Formats: sequence, C-alpha cells, structure tokens
Amino acid sequence: MIYHHHHILNKEIASVKRKNKTIGFVPTMGSLHHGHLTLISRALEENDIAVVSIFVNPTQFDKPADLKKYPRTMDADADLLKTLKGPVYIYAPLPSDLYGDNVVSKKYNFGGLEHQMEGRFRPGHFDGVGTVLNLLFRAISPDHAYFGEKDFQQLQIANKLVEIEDLPTKIVGCPIVREESGLAMSSRNKRLSPKLLEEAVLIHQMLVEVKKYFGRYSIAKLSIIVEKAFRENEHLELEYFEIANINNLKTAARKRAGIKYRAFIAAFAGGVRLIDNIALN
Ligand code: PAF
Repeated sequence: MIYHHHHILNKEIASVKRKNKTIGFVPTMGSLHHGHLTLISRALEENDIAVVSIFVNPTQFDKPADLKKYPRTMDADADLLKTLKGPVYIYAPLPSDLYGDNVVSKKYNFGGLEHQMEGRFRPGHFDGVGTVLNLLFRAISPDHAYFGEKDFQQLQIANKLVEIEDLPTKIVGCPIVREESGLAMSSRNKRLSPKLLEEAVLIHQMLVEVKKYFGRYSIAKLSIIVEKAFRENEHLELEYFEIANINNLKTAARKRAGIKYRAFIAAFAGGVRLIDNIALN
C-alpha cells in the first residue's frame, strides 16, 4: 500500500498501535536494491509491520544538480517491495507533505559528528538528513528504525538525533550488504559502467588491506598505502581515506588502547561518488 499523505498514513499507524503492534521503519530515497531489501526484511522479522519511506530529500543535497540527477524509480521500487513477505507500507510524500511550505533544514549540533568526513565535503548535508529523519520519525512513530552501516556517519547521526529530539525510536545498525565482488551495494552503482563497476572494487579491497595490517602498521603508513593505490588507478579518484574513532568519528592520527576504530573511504568513479567503511578492531 502506498501512502502519499501523512494524515492518511497516521490513521493506519494509529490502528496498528492500538493493536499493540510494533513498527519497523526503513527510510530510503528510493532506487531500491538488495541492500534496502535486507534492511526491510530485518524490519519485518523484528516488528509486526514495516514502513518504508521513499523520498528524495531536497535539504540534504548541497548541489542542485545532484538532486536533479538522483534516480527516481517509484514503479520499480513498488514492484520490488511486493516481493517481500509481510506487511510493508510505503510512504512516498511530496516535500510539502513533510515540510509544509518551508522546505529548509533545521540547524543541528550533533556534538561534532556532523563536521567529520562527509560533513567536511558536503556542507549542510547532516542538517538535511537530521531534519528529514526527525519529520519522518514524528510522522511514523516507529519502534525501530534500520540503517545500513555503509553510511556509518549517518547511522551515528541518527543515534544522536533520537537523543537530541527525545524520540522513542530505537536505531538499529545493520551490516553492509556487498556485491559478490565486494563493492558495497548503493543506488549510485547503477550509474557506473561495467568497467567502473570492476575498478570500484578497489575501495573495498583497500579497506580489507587496511584491516589486515591495522595491528602491524601505523595509521600514517596505512594512509600512504591507500593513497598510492588510488594514485595508480586512472579510473578512481580518492576524496578521503580516514581511520576514525567509531564513537565521535574524529580522525585518528595514532592508535590508542581501548578505542574502537573504523576505516572510511570516499572516492569518485567517473564522477559518481562512492563511500564505504570497515570495522578494524
Ligand atoms: O540514506 C539515505 O537514503 C538518506 O540519507 C535517508 C536516510 C533516507 C534520509 O533522506
């Protein structure tokens, strides 16, 4: 069932809640792939119903051209969701249904999380993500909301958001779903040529390499290895490689005992920006 207006969805949700049923929510911007289906299947396993939002959120794009280019595949998305077993409600609003007349971001202080990595390269991005998630959580009142670890920074922002906005939703982080080649699944992969799909595997390969040598090499040495591999690949352009503390996402210059780290890469493949990460310890 597709809902375009939150007041109609709200009635449905109120009736679900009256029966003491739980709601698992998966926010998406559509262009669904197997990675999304894995999140939604988990939402169905752990809740009575799943709600999936399909909304290309204008406030999280820093470049109008990217917003325009973002794939919109509503019919294919709805067909894909029909392949799942269990009640899945789709919420596909117009911007005005969520935002009213004022399609702008709220300014958030996520305790510094927003200034690291993606935040440095995409100004205002996490204000847009926080704003839309807050609006969606309030419209849907989910018990659980499911996020892929591919966007690990977004997952941590979602955790911080429910704390700041005092929302009852529990955020659930889910493992990255990969192609057989190791490439992290993403809607953006659809924009890669077969050649670039092959070359983009380097991102995951380098993360695996970093994990392998994390105990042995310094962070400086690991950075040199990754940067060299990207320099030698004529199809990919590294935007950043970072090893960061998983809690505050601050860049780590050296390893410290008792801290959990992840390695993060953002790179362009023929103009398509891809991100990926891996847990190191
Ligand atoms: O990851 C995404 O697709 C988006 O950032 C999200 C969480 C749906 C918010 O618009």
